[in-house]
Amino acid sequence: MANDWTPQSWKAHEARHLPRYEDAAALDRVEQTLSTFPPLVFAGEARALKAELAKVSAGRGFLLQGGDCAESFAEFHPDNIRDTFRVLLQMAVVMTFGSKQPVVKVGRMAGQFAKPRSADTETIDGVTLPSYFGDIVNGIEFSPEQRYNDPQRMLQAYSQSAATLNLLRAFASGGYANLRQVHKWTLDHIGSSPWAQKFAETADRIGEALDFMAACGVEPNSVPQLQGTSFYTSHEALLLPWEQALTRQDSLTGDWYDCSAHMLWIGDRTRFENSAHVEFLRGIGNPIGIKCGPSLTPDALLAMLDRLNPTFEPGRMTLIARFGFDKVETGLPPLVRAVQASGHPVLWSCDPMHGNVIKTDSGIKTRPFERIRAEVEGFFAVHRAEGTHAGGIHLEMTGRDVTECTGGAVDITAEGLAECYDTHCDPRLNAAQSIEIAFEIAEMLNKEVAERG
Ligand code: PEP
Ligand code: CO
Repeated sequence: MANDWTPQSWKAHEARHLPRYEDAAALDRVEQTLSTFPPLVFAGEARALKAELAKVSAGRGFLLQGGDCAESFAEFHPDNIRDTFRVLLQMAVVMTFGSKQPVVKVGRMAGQFAKPRSADTETIDGVTLPSYFGDIVNGIEFSPEQRYNDPQRMLQAYSQSAATLNLLRAFASGGYANLRQVHKWTLDHIGSSPWAQKFAETADRIGEALDFMAACGVEPNSVPQLQGTSFYTSHEALLLPWEQALTRQDSLTGDWYDCSAHMLWIGDRTRFENSAHVEFLRGIGNPIGIKCGPSLTPDALLAMLDRLNPTFEPGRMTLIARFGFDKVETGLPPLVRAVQASGHPVLWSCDPMHGNVIKTDSGIKTRPFERIRAEVEGFFAVHRAEGTHAGGIHLEMTGRDVTECTGGAVDITAEGLAECYDTHCDPRLNAAQSIEIAFEIAEMLNKEVAERG
């Protein structure tokens, strides 16, 4: 365990982007209650994920991390969980089949509720109220009742996270993820995308491979890897009272784990020197991500790696680059080189969402698909040039047929955005756009693997 660390040692550090709770006694009661609830994940699972990520950081495999920008209480529905899980499986199949590399699947699900906001308050028509910090803190509707920071919301978030995780575990191991089902995963709303045909072809070829293997005596009934899959959860470790309340000492090892999710990451706005968020993450055994944006210097990154992973444990650190399509090729190489020279084992992943937000003429936030693709291409190009492994992708996406990002083969126009724009925060890729980017990534990965030999 890290020196001088306790689950509450973060309180002596600078905490940015935490909501202010007026009723301290109510917050205290909720924290007490949460700390008696069962952990959402088990430390052994977090270690298993770390072992899988260690392989990816050593050059074998790819990390697929995706889900909502912000989960909401309103969108909590089994069909939404199923659809996002299904698209993640489809993407993983496309990438595994295209690149012959194992894909580690991690959802931004079952706990991705809290959002950092650039301003503490929002003013509309002369009325000023607290900003929306995610459903775990307050409501999105602009009214004094909804914008009240209510600790009780954490209990609802716990219940939603537990139910979501329960369904994800059931899908992952209960037969839904059986590779024999791959044809049945086809979604109605990718039916109109040119990529639906390509997915059906991939499914046919997987079916043929399974038939061949069955003839050789290898069948889903006898091989657990064909029957089900491993699926992990993650979210931004932002709301520290919540994370602290779900942090437990593992009875097997005596180490501390944040049992609110398998993997936690630290956001681009909370990764600074003396940050309370860095302090908190330092002491937990889970795999940790760091968002790396244009303002991060190589020295600051190395200082953070030394602090968060002083023993150079493989699989512990995932660095999630989020530069923007026009900055990645200049901004990323200095970080990659510094990390290489330091000897820190890291997994490099690409978040092509957060650096590519624009506003349309009518003021709607969107992310053009072309920019998302361009950032992924730039990310792969940098790693090819540096001789390092482009190891993962981090997406805001949903299995629903939303219209939040423009472009892609389904060609959502700026005018078409209003049709189904439901996100509680940033615009997400829809199912068809997610499959499309998966095919493109498979091709880029394939090229990298072929060049590496
Ligand atoms: C996010 O992932 O939702 C987020 C806020 O990202 P970042 O910290 O990279 O801005
Ligand atoms: Co976001």
